[in-house]
Amino acid sequence: MPIICCNWKMNGNRELLEQYSNLQLGQGVKAVLLPPSPLINIARNLLSDCWLIGGQSCHAKASGAYTGMVSCSVLSEVGARCVLVGHSERRDFEDAEFLRSAYYAAENLAMQPILCIGEKWDEREEVFAVLTKQLSILNHANSPEIWVAYEPRWAIGTGKTPVISEVEEIFSWIRQKIQDIKPRQLSKIRLLYGGSLGLDNCQQFFASKNIDGGLIGGASLRIDQIREILL
Ligand code: PGA
Repeated sequence: MPIICCNWKMNGNRELLEQYSNLQLGQGVKAVLLPPSPLINIARNLLSDCWLIGGQSCHAKASGAYTGMVSCSVLSEVGARCVLVGHSERRDFEDAEFLRSAYYAAENLAMQPILCIGEKWDEREEVFAVLTKQLSILNHANSPEIWVAYEPRWAIGTGKTPVISEVEEIFSWIRQKIQDIKPRQLSKIRLLYGGSLGLDNCQQFFASKNIDGGLIGGASLRIDQIREILL
């Protein structure tokens, strides 16, 4: 019963939303859409309540002189119920402190943060050290569920994916690590894989016992692909 999380990045428009509104969801599929912020409200109105709608990033402060940023509270006001924190395409602008405060601002508004973690190509040898640091944001996490998307940075948008056995090892390590950090939230951990997921490879990832779903970028813009993936 995978979670299918569609990350449109800076793509998509009303027309694509209208196409999404006709998509069928397979039994037990949990569908999440992360459109650009100005489309969140329209998405909320066009898509059925089965869809969870969310943001791609947020600023922790409710307001202020931060041109171009979107606050968590405004996201929540327009219908977002979840938000990515630390997507690798944002990490170059958003430092650890920014991400930490965004994570907890989302929690405080009862929005589900989706923490994105992953190593760069030249960090593969020290992947567990990199992930340990990125997961430390969860030290004070308090929401009923913890959602983490593991996306090797080198797999995003490149068409390259890691070997499934290596990914399984990483996911089992991540689950254990979160359990160590939050021992009382054992059953509420949701782990997503992201990075060049598409129709041809997603079932292989979803079949892994430690992977609860996927964070899908490029393929979520191709209606023919996402239609099949959601079934
Ligand atoms: P991709 O993007 O599926 O296009 O690789 C994934 C993501 O950025 O979350």
